Amino acid sequence: MSNTFTVSLNGSPQLVTGPHDVPVVILKLGDAVQAYLNNCPDEHLPLETDDALPAVNSRGEIFCGHHQASFDGCSGCFLRPGTARHIDRLREGLISIPVVEFNGQDVTLQITPDVVTAWDRIRRIRFRKSFGRGVRGAVRHQLARLAGKGPAHILNR
Ligand code: FES
Repeated sequence: MSNTFTVSLNGSPQLVTGPHDVPVVILKLGDAVQAYLNNCPDEHLPLETDDALPAVNSRGEIFCGHHQASFDGCSGCFLRPGTARHIDRLREGLISIPVVEFNGQDVTLQITPDVVTAWDRIRRIRFRKSFGRGVRGAVRHQLARLAGKGPAHILNR
């Protein structure tokens, strides 16, 4: 599988999926383009939410939609935590994806082995977290059922 891929820009930020299923967020900042693994190091969630793309302000700072931690769009460096709690993780910043070529419309990116390794690690973390949530949810459901409480009560927690 080729590790480079080309995307036609149609917005900023733009979310795409590269080789190895790597999720990528692309930012157009003035005449330049930057790309990052679409992962917020706070909770290892995508930077977007179900409702909205990550926000980018006029200074080129990108904000995670979950707790509004911000990162410098040019470097990926952590700026401010918003309401996020894992400052040590946030300091790792965003993981950069090299831009091979940009002609003003199309951008060619390279998914390096380091990015693939990082994505594999993050994917495992996300899987463990979702599995944990699933088990906790199932246990809560069973406990509520045994206590004679209905699903509405569970959902309202
Ligand atoms: S998950 Fe991004 S700020 Fe918390």
